[in-house]
Amino acid sequence: MPAANTNRKNKIIGVVSGKGGVGKSVVAVNTTAILKRMGRNSIIVDCDLSNPSTGLHLGLSYGAVGIQEVLQGKNKVSEAVVVQPQTGIRVLPASLKYHPDVSLKNLKNVLWSMTAYDYIIVDSPPGITSDVEYILETCDEVIVITTPDVPSSTSAAKVVSLCQDKKTRVRGIVVNRSTGSPFELSNKEIETMAEVPVIFSIPEDHLIPESIAARTPIVLYKGSSPAARVLKEGVGIITGSTEPMHAREGFFGRVWRIFRRVLRR
Ligand SMILES: Nc1ncnc2c1ncn2[C@@H]1O[C@H](COP(=O)(O)OP(=O)(O)OP(=O)(O)O)[C@@H](O)[C@H]1O
Ligand SMILES: [Mg+2]
Repeated sequence: MPAANTNRKNKIIGVVSGKGGVGKSVVAVNTTAILKRMGRNSIIVDCDLSNPSTGLHLGLSYGAVGIQEVLQGKNKVSEAVVVQPQTGIRVLPASLKYHPDVSLKNLKNVLWSMTAYDYIIVDSPPGITSDVEYILETCDEVIVITTPDVPSSTSAAKVVSLCQDKKTRVRGIVVNRSTGSPFELSNKEIETMAEVPVIFSIPEDHLIPESIAARTPIVLYKGSSPAARVLKEGVGIITGSTEPMHAREGFFGRVWRIFRRVLRR
């Protein structure tokens, strides 16, 4: 395996969460699909070694070689990368075969050597485990996914604090499956718990399970759906081309700023 390139210029972005099932794989797969559409050299890496799902979201047939074999040094990255025929999306899948002896200890060596890709999106397993710690040590930054409820947001806050211990930059929180119900935590409440901003919020959208059944990222399956629209804007925020939600002034903010300027004259 080539040595990790410490002078690399690309970006490795981890999609992590405290609780499971909150939408990491949906966000990771759609982010990669949007980056591909934008013409960026990007790849999604499935780091969920016990429950890999990236290939399932993209309708890929699993081969004998996955990231586990690369981590073990048995195969090269190029022998494991799969190209989705319909879209050209690059995937480094995890093989479905269970490898109890393989961990992500070598992840930094593998991902830091993948300099052909400008963006490497890491789909993570849930929780706080040693494998998640290796992911945090490998990524340049992470986005933390939560649903708008107390158990999930409490776990998200724990992950944020682990990131701080590891000195991994947290790009922000993404709230998924918002319905607007009065029982949901507001973005402000989640920000107070985790002490990092919510960068965007994806609504509950019945087309997401439908798109997974169709094995097509929702941004390609139904790009005009509410969740797909937010995801497209969200990737602008992640890549730095759009301002995050919390940094936007809004109409009243703009009026108030102009009003204050007039008062000061
Ligand atoms: N915005 C949404 N609207 C409706 N359903 C959603 C939304 N986001 C995710 N889901 C549903 O939630 C399920 C879990 O999503 P996903 O697999 O992305 O979670 P995960 O965090 O990766 O889970 P795990 O921790 O097991 O890896 C999906 O099967 C999908 O149907
Ligand atoms: Mg997942």
